[in-house]
Parts: sequence; structure tokens; C-alpha cells
Amino acid sequence: MTNEELIHEIQRLKSEKNAVILGHYYQIDEIQALSDYVGDSLALAREAQKTDASIIVFCGVHFMAETAKILNPTRKVLLPDMDASCSLAESCNGEDIRNFKKQYPGHIVVSYVNCSAEVKAESDLICTSGNAEKLINALPPETKIIFAPDKNLGGYINSKTGRNMVLWNGVCTVHDSMEAENILKMKIANPDAVVVAHPECNGAVLKVSDFVGSTKAMLNYIKESGKKKFIVATEAGILFEMKKNNPDKEFLTVSNGEKCACAECGYMKMNTLEKLYNCLRDESPEIVLDTELIEKAKRPIVRMLDMSAQLGIIK
Ligand code: 13P
Ligand code: SF4
Repeated sequence: MTNEELIHEIQRLKSEKNAVILGHYYQIDEIQALSDYVGDSLALAREAQKTDASIIVFCGVHFMAETAKILNPTRKVLLPDMDASCSLAESCNGEDIRNFKKQYPGHIVVSYVNCSAEVKAESDLICTSGNAEKLINALPPETKIIFAPDKNLGGYINSKTGRNMVLWNGVCTVHDSMEAENILKMKIANPDAVVVAHPECNGAVLKVSDFVGSTKAMLNYIKESGKKKFIVATEAGILFEMKKNNPDKEFLTVSNGEKCACAECGYMKMNTLEKLYNCLRDESPEIVLDTELIEKAKRPIVRMLDMSAQLGIIK
């Protein structure tokens, strides 16, 4: 089938089956264009929670689809490619966190949403890059905290809040491999450009950036900025939304050196139109989770959503 035929069939199956397509900003342009909701991980988790569609097709990575299932377990949740993982989610499992906790008695565990359901079940609170700083600030100052699995986001939050959270040694391989030196060269070649970066980037990159924020925060910042050129230190898929919102502005991506010249997340790009069509047609691959695990993993996510509402981060 051609792309046009695939898109037509996906739309047909979607209404026939009362399905909703949730797409992350890092998905390929064609998937973002046909998604019912496009957003960052926090916004998509909320859409998944409130949808009354019978089927949620999650065009993102595995931990995001799992979060959707945890928040809305009576729905069938599909992920076009079950292998669409995440280097952060891969960096630790439930047992790793249980062992880590034993080394730090008296600590609570705050986990970045980029982790498996098993790790969420071992956590006291979940956060996203969009609410991490405010949630950590809202915890009593004497709280001892383990932060998993992203040491870059955790280090950034430590620097912003003055906390001394113990960090699990995980990274996003896409953001962590971006280099400050490369950005500095780009800045010299483009003196009028503003650098925006995701807090999953390493500390050296964050230091040379003008604005650090989640995907949504970067989008808002660029929309409101009077500047015309931006060096974007995050996954290149976000450029689809940036260009759509700001046709008069220019965007440059940061290559991550030797490892990949494209700043693309290989996991996010595993979902294709064809796999999306097959998954809607076959209602597979499906996220299936044990009821007990859902209950355990749900508590810290609901706590995050409740705290985010109390703090005015979400409505
Ligand atoms: P957001 O929480 O900003 O959507 O980011 C998710 C992610 O995987 C970033 O690499
Ligand atoms: Fe995970 Fe990084 Fe890909 Fe986001 S960009 S899904 S953090 S590997």
C-alpha cells in the first residue's frame, strides 16, 4: 500500500473500532500528522487516562504505552512495535531498584516516567521532565531521595533545587551523546541563534544552553520568543511541531557526533505507518500487565498527577 492508502485505512479502522491514536512529538512526521493527540509524555498520559475510546494506539515507546494501560486498564492498549523501548527504561529493572534502595535506607524513590512498570511499582512518586523540578521542590526539604533512572535529569534537578538526590546511573543515549563543543561551534557559526535543550542532555550541554525544558516547555518558549533561529538539543522529531507552530523561524538540530548524525531516537522511529496499520487491523501487539503490578505502579503515577494539579502544572 502507498502511504496515502495506509493513512486512509488507518483512519477507517480507527473510527470502525472506536480507537484513539496518541502520538509523541518524536514520532515520524506522518504519524504525528494523523494522531488524534500529539504531546509530551505528561500530556499523553493524561489523554490516555481520560479517553473513552475502546482502543488506545500508543505511538511512542513501550514505557509510555504501559503508563497508558496502568492509567486506563479497561482499555485495550496497542503499541505498533513492541521493541520500541528506551535506553533509560532499559537501564534498570525492579530488582535493581530494590537492591539500590537497600543501600540507601530512609530514602524515597522518585522515578522519571521513562522507566518500566516494574520500576514504577518500586517508586513513591513519578515525574516527567515537565514537572520534575516543581514536584521535587514540593517535597519537604529533609526528604532523602533516590532519583532514577536518568542521572542527567536528576543532576539538573539537584542543581535547580539545591537537593542532593542519589542518582541511578542511567542516561538517554540520544540526548547524552550530544556534545557541548559541537553546540559551541554551531553558536559561533550562528551567532543569532538561541540554544534550547532537553534536561536529558549532559550537564556540559545544559551549561551552554539558553533555555532548558521539557519538549512542551521548549515549544512554548520558542512560540513566545521574538528570536528567529534556534539550535535544538533534543530529538529531531520535535521539529515537525516547531515548524508547524513557527513557519517564520529556523531550526537547527544537534547531531550526536560519531554515534548518530541525525539526533533521532531509533526506538521512537520503530513505529511506521505500516506497523500502525497492522496493529489496528490485528489489535496486536497489545500491552498486557498483571493486575497487581498495575495497582502498584498506578499509585506513584496518580500521586504525580494529583500533585501536578495541586501545583497548577496541569488543569
Ligand atoms: P517528554 O517527557 O518531554 O515527552 O520526553 C520524553 C522523552 O522520551 C524524552 O526523550
Ligand atoms: Fe528514551 Fe531517549 Fe528515546 Fe526518549 S529519546 S525514548 S529518553 S531513548
